[in-house]
Amino acid sequence: MKKINIAIDGPAAAGKSTIAKLVAQQFNMIYVDTGAMYRAITLYYIEQESEDFDRLVKEIDLKIVLDNGQRVILNGKDVSERIRENDVTEKVSYVASKESVRTFLVEQQQKLADEKNVVMDGRDIGTTVLPDAELKIYMIASVEERAVRRLKDNELRGIESDLEFLKVDIERRDQYDMNRDISPLVKAEDAISIDTTGLTIEEVTNQITELAKDKMV
Ligand code: CDP
Ligand code: CDP
Repeated sequence: MKKINIAIDGPAAAGKSTIAKLVAQQFNMIYVDTGAMYRAITLYYIEQESEDFDRLVKEIDLKIVLDNGQRVILNGKDVSERIRENDVTEKVSYVASKESVRTFLVEQQQKLADEKNVVMDGRDIGTTVLPDAELKIYMIASVEERAVRRLKDNELRGIESDLEFLKVDIERRDQYDMNRDISPLVKAEDAISIDTTGLTIEEVTNQITELAKDKMV
């Protein structure tokens, strides 16, 4: 079977990471959650209380441990859980709009996918990070369903949240991501759209698995 890269983009809580992880498992591919990388830099930004993003990225040692899921190690500390908390979620789109932050991370992401065999999810994977990916998916779902999904995620993680707040936050972040100057969230011309509203995780995973198989022959 031919080695391929799969790019999965779309708005918040559309199901990208869950499905990307399952697709990667099916084919023994590496799964990379690029949102976690932006979240890690955001955590450092919050800790440092500095707007000097050129300096912040120089000081960051970011390690992505790709081992049965993804652990994010920021300057020697495992921050995989911490980066899901509300203060990080609130500021991540602002930090992700900064040129030095995007340049720093896109380079690392491209290196991770250099040898192919990667399923990568984010906002600009099909357009900027892996424009030559063999399969590109643009995943969407209604904002109501996405908010309910995120509420359940947060409950499981012990993070306090409420449905109305989540809806507003998801919409705010989508608008910010779609309207920024550098690599905004947009469907790549050659991406296949999948609306996951009302679909189970298994149904979406199967759809993508079938599309991937066609690309591997
Ligand atoms: O999981 P959730 O949908 O809440 O977001 P995420 O994938 O963890 O991404 C968090 C934020 O990082 C997004 O809202 C974007 O602002 C930014 N991001 C980005 O700009 N480019 C990417 N490739 C991935 C994430
Ligand atoms: O990565 P992204 O922010 O796009 O979404 P996610 O974190 O993978 O998915 C958000 C939540 O929706 C997770 O708890 C998934 O289990 C759930 N989900 C779902 O209920 N049905 C789907 N078809 C896809 C995801």
